Amino acid sequence: MKDDATPPQPTFSLSKSDAVSFLRAFDDGSVDLVVTDPPYESLEKHRAIGTTTRLKHSKASSNDWFAIFPNSRFEELFAEIYRVLKKNRHFYLFCDQETAFFVKPLGEAAGFRFWKPLIWDKRKIGMGYHYRARYEMILFFEKGKRKLNDLGIPDIIEADRIYRGYPTEKPAKVSRVLISQSTQPGELVVDPFVGSGSTGVAAVDLGRSFAGNDICDEALRVARERICAAGGIERPAACQRKTSTHQLTLGIGART
Ligand SMILES: C[S@@+](CC[C@H](N)C(=O)[O-])C[C@H]1O[C@@H](n2cnc3c(N)ncnc32)[C@H](O)[C@@H]1O
Repeated sequence: MKDDATPPQPTFSLSKSDAVSFLRAFDDGSVDLVVTDPPYESLEKHRAIGTTTRLKHSKASSNDWFAIFPNSRFEELFAEIYRVLKKNRHFYLFCDQETAFFVKPLGEAAGFRFWKPLIWDKRKIGMGYHYRARYEMILFFEKGKRKLNDLGIPDIIEADRIYRGYPTEKPAKVSRVLISQSTQPGELVVDPFVGSGSTGVAAVDLGRSFAGNDICDEALRVARERICAAGGIERPAACQRKTSTHQLTLGIGART
């Protein structure tokens, strides 16, 4: 006999495309939440002065470094994120302090209300010459007006940094807080720079649907493995969009 109390297993899809092209294939107002972590330009500076250069082939990281998303492209990225989100939804962007100053006005110009940076407290100090780094920022933007699910959650999220993971991997525990706060079960969470899939792991674990994207095959391989292990059921990327003809013409959203 069918048990109606058992929630359906959460589904996910992964695409290989440029982040902006990936978003362009979504219909207007079709996404419930975007949580993403672009490879921002200032990472190159950290690498140049030596703190993150070591990631490239060090034992602290299992993968090579990835391509950078230039500051000049944030305007088009934010326009697409704003367009694909439904009314009264949230958008979270992981970034460093330098990128935060640059992108905040661009997010506002795209139509978002900027609330505040949340802090991911890594609980232990890392590298750096001008006070050792212990935190990263997550910019909290809103389209329309939406109440957070739990008004008692602080703006500092504590989670240990990831060692020997994907370069700049974020703990799923941090994304879990963001997704719990800004979606309901069954809603669609999207990450156009999915990396090793931390956002997807948190989303399916919380019973949300997930659509991720990356330009890197290795990222997609790792993400797929992790999201499946978290209980996600993969479906073809094209299923999430109504504009499948347009998508086929563009040749994007292909399953990798
Ligand atoms: C900072 S990492 C994301 C890490 C992820 N949050 C995690 O926990 O593993 C950024 C990712 O963006 C990808 N990327 C770089 N340029 C891209 C682009 N134009 N479109 C889509 N993905 C891109 C890189 O391959 C990399 O995996």
